[in-house]
Amino acid sequence: MKITYYGHSCFLVEAGGKRLLFDPFVSGNPLAGAVKAADIRCDFVLLTHAHSDHIADVETVIQHNPKAVIVGIWEIHSHYSAKGYTTHPMNKGGWWSFDFGRVKMVNAVHSSSFPDGSYAGEPVGFVLDTPGGVLYMAGDTALTLDMQLIPLTCPKLDVAILPIGSNFTMDSHDAAIAAEYIRCDRIIGCHYDTFGYIKIDHEKAKAAFEEKDKELILLNIGETCDIVKG
Ligand code: NI
Ligand code: MN
Repeated sequence: MKITYYGHSCFLVEAGGKRLLFDPFVSGNPLAGAVKAADIRCDFVLLTHAHSDHIADVETVIQHNPKAVIVGIWEIHSHYSAKGYTTHPMNKGGWWSFDFGRVKMVNAVHSSSFPDGSYAGEPVGFVLDTPGGVLYMAGDTALTLDMQLIPLTCPKLDVAILPIGSNFTMDSHDAAIAAEYIRCDRIIGCHYDTFGYIKIDHEKAKAAFEEKDKELILLNIGETCDIVKG
């Protein structure tokens, strides 16, 4: 499984022969000037919730990838389906087998609405069970005991993407506890540094994970890492 970071919570995951884009938000990210949403090639767009810092570039991405399927909670599916986009609706607790592997939609503790204030269902996370590895993408979330359900209901995680920026989500202290709850040793940080509210000290964040014998990976924007299935 290859994971490329496009800043904030936007990641491209290459697994099972497909390209999966999470939470496209690059044009409004002052740190991601080198990334062009129009240049990203993908087969699926997975959305954790409908805040603008997660969906701002969906239209651009679909314009340039007209066959891409948007995967989101029912209300997000309804919104994009009404615009004529191809979507796959899910809701929390369920699995669906796609051609790249299985996806489970899981709980996240946050809020969700479209930029115009309309209802977008609830925020979610995703677990991907693919031939190239098992990934948990937490989305925007607080630390929650529900994370303990993931190792009980899913195959062993190879890697997880957790928010660490505080203010709107968990900080690195709570994310390190989340890493214990989900029994995953390799964590990629997200949702930090983009705005003044979520600027963090990288060394302190890494130390919070080291204390619990966990690895925190902070990718540079545009950087790709290879996750080997454990
Ligand atoms: Ni949010
Ligand atoms: Mn956010």
